[in-house]
Amino acid sequence: MHKLAIEGGSPIQGEVAVSGAKNAALPLLAAALLSDEPLTLSNVPRLVDVDTMLGLLAQMGVAIERDGDSVTLDASTIDNPLAPYERVKTMRAAILVLGPLVARAGEAKVSLPGGCAIGARPVDQHIKGLTAMGAEVSVQHGYILATAPKGRDGGRRLSGARLFTDMVTVTGTENLMMAAALAQGETVIENAAREPEVADLAECLNRMGARISGAGSDEIRIQGVARLHGARHRIMPDRIETGTYLCAAAATGGKIRLSGALAASLEAVLDKLAESGCKIAVDGESISLEAPTKLRSVSLRTSPYPAFPTDMQAQFMAVNAVAEGTAVIRETVFENRFMHAVELSRLGADIKIDGNTAVVKGVARLEGATVMATDLRASASLVIAGLAAAGETVIERIYHLDRGYEQLEQKLLALGARVRRLK
Ligand code: EPU
Repeated sequence: MHKLAIEGGSPIQGEVAVSGAKNAALPLLAAALLSDEPLTLSNVPRLVDVDTMLGLLAQMGVAIERDGDSVTLDASTIDNPLAPYERVKTMRAAILVLGPLVARAGEAKVSLPGGCAIGARPVDQHIKGLTAMGAEVSVQHGYILATAPKGRDGGRRLSGARLFTDMVTVTGTENLMMAAALAQGETVIENAAREPEVADLAECLNRMGARISGAGSDEIRIQGVARLHGARHRIMPDRIETGTYLCAAAATGGKIRLSGALAASLEAVLDKLAESGCKIAVDGESISLEAPTKLRSVSLRTSPYPAFPTDMQAQFMAVNAVAEGTAVIRETVFENRFMHAVELSRLGADIKIDGNTAVVKGVARLEGATVMATDLRASASLVIAGLAAAGETVIERIYHLDRGYEQLEQKLLALGARVRRLK
């Protein structure tokens, strides 16, 4: 298992380019299942999660061609509408094939994901929505079995419906929006997730001939069409990767410039960094950050977009660990997303957890130690803390980072960090 060794204690400085967004890429790859014509995506990040999704699609009969940062997917034949447990357990986003498969192939067998390091994460809302669209859904031996109803012509097709999700769910909204794109009639998704990745997916689906309006708001309207055609789409920049590097610069007293970024997608994060005393400048697609000599701690509460993202909570805990003052962090999206707190404490951070609240008292100095990564964003927070800590930090189980940060070491090296991958 690979480890990451970081010799910390000095500011990171320089410029790096932001990669395509993981959480936009995964639903967009699944969207290829909706058409019998090729979909070409560019700005596809090289990540283990992307490879997992491509492997899953290939297993279903999708032909895949990679060319630099572009991927062309040809789903003219889907001969095996199955997402086996082995794939879904390594990447929960594999659930994103459920909606497209039922809509296009008329049937799907997708493993239930089960719990994970950050919470129980059920998929009941995905199932509820598909059922409302006429699908027959059952759970057998750990698998979701779904079939679309038979129409007069003998083909299987979902029907449009008015859908309301009990909570805001990102992949739930995406799954239902993709399913509705090929349904008969109109679907309205109320309480829809407003995340920019949902809007990016809708934009691509519309390029494929879908009729979707309102994506990016909490009410999405989809007029179902009989078929979707091929298209080309460039994946939006990764707002969480962007925020992670900005936090690394803030925590180390550094100064960086990120190119190819989309500042409008991370306003809540930029706002908190400004509150901590960082100087931020946005110029077109670039974001620059200069850390203050004394960083102030910032309290925050995670919530669905456009509020502060849960995917940036761990990184801000690391920032607060070295800031002046006491911060209160409330996690309201996932029930168990503080696993990084104990590991940060091993580096000398002062963090107390009570239920969904963490109280972080800034300390003058963190010290390097060996720590263990538990999930993707927890790992990112340990990298940030390791960069800020004096001496060497060794992060174990960095496969989590490879799932979601493209060329992490190369980018950190470009920013002057002293990092090594230990094999
Ligand atoms: N939920 C349910 N039932 C459902 C769906 C969701 O109870 O049917 C609950 C979840 O358990 C959670 C909350 O609703 O408490 C929100 O979950 P959501 O469905 O929005 O999460 P997700 O779609 O599974 C995506 C991202 C996550 C990100 C969350 C929240 C992708 C591929 N994943 O997950 O990203 O944390 O939205 O913004 O888009 C990451 O990148 O590290 C990551 C975990």
